Amino acid sequence: MQYSSSPPSTLVPAAAGGAPRSAAGAPDIKIADLSVAFGTPQGKVTALQNVNVDIPSGSFFTIVGPSGCGKTTLLKVLSGVLPPSAGTVAFNGKPVERSSFTGQVGYVFQRPLLLPWRTAIENVMLTLEIARPELSKRERISEAMRWLHITGLKGFEHRYPTELSGGMQQRVSISRGLAFQPKVLLMDEPFAALDEITRERLQEELVTLWEKVRISVVFITHSIPEALLLSQRIVVMSGRPGHVVEQIDIDFPRPRNEDTRQEPRFIELQGHIRHLLRENPHSTSATTH
Ligand SMILES: Nc1ncnc2c1ncn2[C@@H]1O[C@H](COP(=O)(O)OP(=O)(O)OP(=O)(O)O)[C@@H](O)[C@H]1O
Ligand SMILES: [Mg+2]
Repeated sequence: MQYSSSPPSTLVPAAAGGAPRSAAGAPDIKIADLSVAFGTPQGKVTALQNVNVDIPSGSFFTIVGPSGCGKTTLLKVLSGVLPPSAGTVAFNGKPVERSSFTGQVGYVFQRPLLLPWRTAIENVMLTLEIARPELSKRERISEAMRWLHITGLKGFEHRYPTELSGGMQQRVSISRGLAFQPKVLLMDEPFAALDEITRERLQEELVTLWEKVRISVVFITHSIPEALLLSQRIVVMSGRPGHVVEQIDIDFPRPRNEDTRQEPRFIELQGHIRHLLRENPHSTSATTH
């Protein structure tokens, strides 16, 4: 394990088009001097400032940071829906909006955002229709069912979102994300609303999927143990304007489990990250001028 210093729902394909799924693996992602500011009636809000992160193809990166530090904003830029105010985000050297990978970026949003007029399985199948057109209808049904069952929704496949609890809706959203199998999967606190056991099961499924298909995952969480159990690298961000405080490589062997949590290094790292977050809290001012 190294500490490396730094400056350093609808799940939908993040943008229409893109290369066919047979294209080579996940792209190398380079975030260079990225800043994002929003103009508001009250003044300028700088969400991100000079963020530098390199995410090699097939990595599992997790971002932790105080509420409002720009984590969701960063995922929006990675998905191509929000342009940088300064700096660049490139996939294999090409700006994200011009990259052939933009159609292969999946996004599990912080809130489920399901289509209310579609049942759970229809919500998952819609994404499969768009993202995996090579599947027959029978295969789409079977794949959607499989993920709904993995996420514990057996028996609820034909319910509408309003008939599901918040956590169940989020599980439909996660099913959609995992069934899609994009080259890059952006996950914004996907497990926050789930009970402990479901959360653990989905963490294992996510890691299994990641190990099998070697997609790149950029994951956001407020849970330090979750970050330590899942990630290859943890990016710790400061309060707004968010910048990278430290990047930490995590090399516990997998599978990581209860025993991993008891390891002295796990406990030490947990304390270290907590310390970093405490030292770099969220801003008390709403705007910057
Ligand atoms: N469209 C917008 N217009 C103006 N300000 C915005 C907009 N989107 C985000 N912000 C501001 O940018 C900052 C970062 O927001 P963001 O949603 O990225 O935070 P976050 O780190 O994801 O927080 P949380 O952990 O609470 O989800 C916040 O101060 C927020 O108020
Ligand atoms: Mg957020």
